[in-house]
Amino acid sequence: MIICTTISELRTILNGQRGEAPDGLIGLVPTMGFLHDGHASLMQRSVNECAFTVLTVFVNPLQFGPNEDFDRYPRDLERDAALAEKHGVDLLFAPSVQEMYPTRPLTKILINEVADRLCGASRPGHFDGVGTVVTKLFNLVQPGRAYFGMKDAQQVAVIQQMVNDLNTPVDIVPCETVREADGLAMSSRNVYLSSDERAQAVILSRTLQQAERMLREPGMTAGKLSAEAAASIRTSPLAVIDYAELLTYPSLQPIDPDQLLTEMNQTLILALAVKFGGTRLIDNRLLQSAGGGLNV
Ligand code: PAF
Repeated sequence: MIICTTISELRTILNGQRGEAPDGLIGLVPTMGFLHDGHASLMQRSVNECAFTVLTVFVNPLQFGPNEDFDRYPRDLERDAALAEKHGVDLLFAPSVQEMYPTRPLTKILINEVADRLCGASRPGHFDGVGTVVTKLFNLVQPGRAYFGMKDAQQVAVIQQMVNDLNTPVDIVPCETVREADGLAMSSRNVYLSSDERAQAVILSRTLQQAERMLREPGMTAGKLSAEAAASIRTSPLAVIDYAELLTYPSLQPIDPDQLLTEMNQTLILALAVKFGGTRLIDNRLLQSAGGGLNV
């Protein structure tokens, strides 16, 4: 595996690779590092499907708000490199902030509507920062496919919208959320949790499972399902809800609270963001409609 930290090295290596294998598919796995098994599944999928896999590790300051965890975001490049190599990644690109933003960027990608709700509402500017850095990475690597985890389903929807709007020649590949044995979605931020918080954080996946069971109850409405989800999360004393919302997916449109769910014929998302102390966790479940009823 090659490791590089500068844009000029990255371009030279990728030009060489394209020269050697002009038809070879390049897969991109963009991450902020501190890799876990969720990232491993993205790397593995890219390695299986593409001729050459590029992993990027970059904690992007543009997507963090002023009071967020940019400075304390966990970092361990040596460990990340070992894991990437183990999974067959060909090139690890780990630029500095100075390399990616040598001057204050005056150009930004703004994505409306789909980026305004859920995490976009609680973290203003977050998806502009994501859209901007992902566009830069797409321009630098020019991948045929890019792999993103569905734990951040809104990020997948936002990036897919951006790629559609800008005709960016890359296939976005959404990959299933990888979970701990008790159901907690894997996240680099899980390391922030105290042992009590970690024990209670399982309420997110339990709430999603419960919602899945309640979905087909006669008379279940969008409003009732969201309210039941919020009530379930509140059974964990340390949990503070940021949002627990049922929306359409991927357009993320609100649903009339009185809408009977069994009468809908659409893909929906139950999306959760919950704080445990200073740690904000997200999780979600897609609910697929099938012929008037709902399949999960
Ligand atoms: O999902 C992430 O880790 C980040 O938002 C991404 C896509 C690498 C952009 O910084």
